[in-house]
Amino acid sequence: MSETAELKLPDGQVVQLPVVEGSAGERAIDIANLRAESKYITLDPGFGNTGSCLSSITFIDGDNGVLLYRGIPIEELCAHSSFLETSFLLINGRLPKKAELESFESEITRHTMLYEDVKNFYDGFPRDAHPMAILASVVCSLSSFYQDEQGSPGEVSYLNSIRLMAKLPTIAAWAYKRSVGQPFMYPSNNLRYCENFLYMMFGLPVEEYEPDPAVVEALDTLLILHADHEQNCSTSTVRLVRSSMTNMFACIASGICALWGSRHGGANQEVIEMLEQIQEDGGNVKKFVEMAKDRDSGFRLMGFGHRVYKNFDPRAKIIKAKCDKVLERLKVADPLLDIAKELEEAALNDDYFKEKKLYPNVDFYSGIIYKAMGIPTNAFTVMFALGRLPGWIAHAKEYTEEPKNRIGRPRQIYTGPESAHWLPFDQR
Ligand code: ACO
Repeated sequence: MSETAELKLPDGQVVQLPVVEGSAGERAIDIANLRAESKYITLDPGFGNTGSCLSSITFIDGDNGVLLYRGIPIEELCAHSSFLETSFLLINGRLPKKAELESFESEITRHTMLYEDVKNFYDGFPRDAHPMAILASVVCSLSSFYQDEQGSPGEVSYLNSIRLMAKLPTIAAWAYKRSVGQPFMYPSNNLRYCENFLYMMFGLPVEEYEPDPAVVEALDTLLILHADHEQNCSTSTVRLVRSSMTNMFACIASGICALWGSRHGGANQEVIEMLEQIQEDGGNVKKFVEMAKDRDSGFRLMGFGHRVYKNFDPRAKIIKAKCDKVLERLKVADPLLDIAKELEEAALNDDYFKEKKLYPNVDFYSGIIYKAMGIPTNAFTVMFALGRLPGWIAHAKEYTEEPKNRIGRPRQIYTGPESAHWLPFDQR
């Protein structure tokens, strides 16, 4: 018989709970039958101790700063792979053969256009609309154009995965073009994924545009680093929305919305805004560290801390190295980078940050690279979404293909009034 844990309840009842072990030795107590056997549920606000699924996509060892996609270290993928190869790996569970990768890349290249009618949607958004609002809205609207997979019970259609991968850069670039009042650039089938995105962002119909190879390389690495991170807020959202059998375009739109917030993907925008604030304030890094330690200030060091990484974020390490390289190659001398480094050092040597195990996360340096690339600050989270897309697709696919999947429906402990009655206005 497999291992079990015993749970002794206040009334003396003892419930046997199976122990589940993952391939890397992580252990969990399976409480799926707890309520049926005892009428008790578990309570875990923020889900810090709750495993919501079994997953073979990504492994994180937060204590040792390890991140693996399908078993492969992130460092190896950043050194040898491309974003599209990594996307194939995440979605299909294995590295592609050469011909498979060529076919994956070519199919994505041939689906980058949007229905011409989609262009009209952009006219309805205010010029200063946040690009994440546009991204989520337009992605969701694709479900009205592709009605062939409106929630299949057993699979995520390959074609819709290709459509999403192919069209998200176009949707994102057009959101930027709308904000600066420039003509939309149609995708070019002669360009590879990252080059094509930069071309649609920064190209103009009136002149040739050649993306800088240093920028292309850095972008590819950043997208790989963002590609998946197991059951984070946006990925859990995608899985939960998918669990009601919602179509894939709406599922991905929900992931985009969840990513937007400042505690998640939105932090990269807030990091730059915070660094600019420190700069405007005369560069007094220590003052901001002190402010972050004061709970009453309501201020946190953006780009610091992580629910899972309690030692270092391996993605931050790779990005920091890339950041120095890109800025040097682009000959950008950004004073914000100096402030960031000073801030990092001050925080890492501060007892509060040491005790609470708060280290720079992926967002701390990514914004500086995006800024050097010319990406506007409010579009940083859009870049994160472009990178996270294959992870969302992989998780939706994994969920959908699980034969015993059920709709996600957490329980609660009710704390409201037990009995109340409607009263007319004069008695309230
Ligand atoms: N600055 C100052 N104090 C912090 C910070 C920070 N950046 N992060 C956490 N703390 C403190 C909290 O006040 C709390 O203190 P307490 O124990 O006295 O109450 C303690 O550290 C634990 O923080 P929690 O919020 O409980 O940790 P949680 O795991 O829930 O949150 C999170 C993690 C959201 C990332 C948090 O560290 C944070 O808000 N960081 C800043 C935003 C950020 O960078 N987000 C990006 C995350 S990475 C990503 O999504 C790609």
